[in-house]
Amino acid sequence: MVSIFHSSKTRPSITTEAVDYVTQKHLIHSIRTAVFVDEQNIPADFEIDHDDPISQHVLAFCQGEAIGTGRLTAAGKIGRVSVLRPFRRQGVGLCVMHRLVTLAKRGHHSEVVLSAQCHAIPFYEKLGFQPEGSVFSEAGIAHIKMRKQLRRTAPAAAPRNDCRRYFGWQKA
Ligand SMILES: CC(C)(COP(=O)(O)OP(=O)(O)OC[C@H]1O[C@@H](n2cnc3c(N)ncnc32)[C@H](O)[C@@H]1OP(=O)(O)O)[C@@H](O)C(=O)NCCC(=O)NCCS
Repeated sequence: MVSIFHSSKTRPSITTEAVDYVTQKHLIHSIRTAVFVDEQNIPADFEIDHDDPISQHVLAFCQGEAIGTGRLTAAGKIGRVSVLRPFRRQGVGLCVMHRLVTLAKRGHHSEVVLSAQCHAIPFYEKLGFQPEGSVFSEAGIAHIKMRKQLRRTAPAAAPRNDCRRYFGWQKA
């Protein structure tokens, strides 16, 4: 199932898709390697773990190129949210998160949690996540736990196909 971000003159069209890990893991890991291993110097063996084969994964595409990803574990934890550097601050991360939260709602999770890198707190706060507890170090990077309560039923009017409307997009 593809979610479409309609194109505008300033932003090429972006889609997100819930994907099968086995067939799409080369795309998932190419993004995560570029962002977490190459850019953030996180060890490669830390980036892949036992949750990957049993998680739901999302990819964002721009004109056929995979540019962003994220996952939802069976326990309702969102993670590995990453967007290739040239595509940041264009709403791609929000679209990936929207799709992951929708998957959590459909999976009847009452809440979702994540470990946020502290620099990304404003990004997750924009999505309704709230920080809790103390800052801790993971892979040498400061993190904090964040949580978002979910409505038990998805809102009937929640538009699945237009990230701008869902997030009240205001960009020109
Ligand atoms: C965090 C990340 C996924 C955000 O993706 P993105 O596509 O750039 O995010 P969006 O464009 O959807 O951001 C939407 C809003 O979130 C906020 N935001 C996003 N990145 C932010 C940052 N680095 N610092 C502060 N606010 C940020 C802004 O309010 C932004 O809106 P604006 O651009 O109008 O100001 C991306 O920066 C990334 O991949 N970073 C490296 C990997 C990483 O740190 N992942 C998080 C692991 S917990």
